[in-house]
Amino acid sequence: MLAADLFTLGKRVNPRGDAGGGADSELVALETLLELNTLLTRRIEKETRRAMERERQLLRQANFATMGEMIGIIAHQWRQPLGSLNLILQNLRFDSREGVLDQAALDDYLDRARRMIELMSTTIDDFRLFFTHNATSSDFSLLATIRKCADLMDASLKTHGIELTVTGDDACVHGRENEFLHVMVNLVVNARDAMVERKVGHGRIRVGIGRDEGEAWICLSDNAGGIDPPDAIERIFDLHFTTKPGGSGIGLYLARTVVEQHLGGHIWAENGADGARFILRLPFRQGTDG
Ligand SMILES: Nc1ncnc2c1ncn2[C@@H]1O[C@H](COP(=O)(O)OP(=O)(O)OP(=O)(O)O)[C@@H](O)[C@H]1O
Ligand SMILES: [Mg+2]
Repeated sequence: MLAADLFTLGKRVNPRGDAGGGADSELVALETLLELNTLLTRRIEKETRRAMERERQLLRQANFATMGEMIGIIAHQWRQPLGSLNLILQNLRFDSREGVLDQAALDDYLDRARRMIELMSTTIDDFRLFFTHNATSSDFSLLATIRKCADLMDASLKTHGIELTVTGDDACVHGRENEFLHVMVNLVVNARDAMVERKVGHGRIRVGIGRDEGEAWICLSDNAGGIDPPDAIERIFDLHFTTKPGGSGIGLYLARTVVEQHLGGHIWAENGADGARFILRLPFRQGTDG
């Protein structure tokens, strides 16, 4: 189009194609230049509009991808409290039928159910903030948060006869406590899933906490036989990597994002003698630890 316009311009400036000149042809040339200028301006405006629209479309797509990811994460993190809530209701009905439901037991069930619902409610807020970098952080105790995780998983672990122990020295970490709670829940859920899938008789999950070389560490180990195949150890942290039928492969991706990008630490996995081991190293608050 542009080449054709220039060709027309050439013809109008000098229709005979010779070296002729004069005031007339200068006027024609000026008019034609002005015309071409208008044409080019319009074309630039059109192209700019098109580029802006393309950019808006790309942005919209990116937002949809983020929204899809966010909904996926919320659905993933709701599975555990929903399952626990279901168990609580089943136990309530059972105890009631057996006539062993006194006021204290009822209060305990209701309290547990309230905690599950609270967690589900904060999960929505947590993961809306997960994608923004201005989310508020505070100091929190590793031990207290791991105990919250143990409490949350209690009914589910008991159902499968799995024992969970937490030992070690506490440390204070700066970040978003609920995000860290979700990391721990994912690790415990994975250990439980591996035990259920492999029908491990006496399931054990051990969580150790400590501090060395200016960092806090957490080691969560199980006796479910380890990551299989062993060469998948690095890939298990990839988004959508899963070996489970119906698995989403979100859990460990989320864990690594929180630990490494939000808490400034590291997380990796190893295969031990009788199961998998997940190690987390986190910077801790000096002076406020323990
Ligand atoms: N404790 C463990 N023992 C053995 N394998 C594990 C353990 N934890 C994780 N894995 C392996 O890592 C994979 C990825 O875990 P991740 O939590 O990211 O997703 P998933 O558990 O498969 O799916 P979802 O979290 O949606 O249920 C698992 O499919 C499993 O193969
Ligand atoms: Mg998982």
